[in-house]
Amino acid sequence: MIITLEETRHAQPIEALLDRAFGPDRFKKTAYKLREGIAPLPELGFVAIEHDEHGNEVLEGTIRYWPVEVGGNPSLLLGPIAVSERLQGAGLGSKLIRMSLNKAAAMGHRSVILVGDAPYYARFGFSRSLTLDMQLPGPVDLDRFLGLELVPGALAGVSGMVTAPAAAPSAALAVVPPLSLSSPLMAVGELPQPALWFARTA
Ligand SMILES: CC(C)(COP(=O)(O)OP(=O)(O)OC[C@H]1O[C@@H](n2cnc3c(N)ncnc32)[C@H](O)[C@@H]1OP(=O)(O)O)[C@@H](O)C(=O)NCCC(=O)NCCS
Repeated sequence: MIITLEETRHAQPIEALLDRAFGPDRFKKTAYKLREGIAPLPELGFVAIEHDEHGNEVLEGTIRYWPVEVGGNPSLLLGPIAVSERLQGAGLGSKLIRMSLNKAAAMGHRSVILVGDAPYYARFGFSRSLTLDMQLPGPVDLDRFLGLELVPGALAGVSGMVTAPAAAPSAALAVVPPLSLSSPLMAVGELPQPALWFARTA
């Protein structure tokens, strides 16, 4: 199993995995309003890949992030994330989340929001208390609207509507970087330890 940056050839298997995990109705969810027509951030899109007996790639996990703004402040929208049914519960989702959050922090991103199951995301430090003054552009179960500060205090005083960024790259123009020697291609067993800050929140 390797975790590596998403590339163009992964797009179709990712859609198939998301269809299996969430069903085709997923596009009606409020979070998708924030993604419509906008490319996910290529630096934070990771896939988990295994190879079958013929050497073909089998996509086992995906995580993506979209750029958003909250009351004009830049933030990240985590998701969707999905792990293939046969590997769920084995730690892959946690690895995808910790690895991408660590990279987001290293890139200078300050906060992350998402709509998801609080009992799962609390272990990574996500909390409803950080999004109380924010609104989403559609209906959601508010208990599932969570935030995380990558920089302590980053969401203090941040309030207002979550929107797509004013100048976001269009999905049609998305450029997925080719895999290069500098891409974070690594075996799952060799993943870097989560940053101390996330380890404390686990
Ligand atoms: C949610 C998902 C990404 C988690 O990935 P995973 O690799 O299965 O999870 P991990 O192995 O890292 O973590 C397993 C732990 O999370 C818990 N967990 C998994 N999904 C959970 C959920 N939706 N709510 C609460 N806890 C959850 C498991 O009970 C397990 O707990 P334990 O560590 O106490 O035993 C994966 O199960 C999945 O793709 N599910 C279907 C799609 C989905 O629902 N995605 C978004 C969730 S909001």
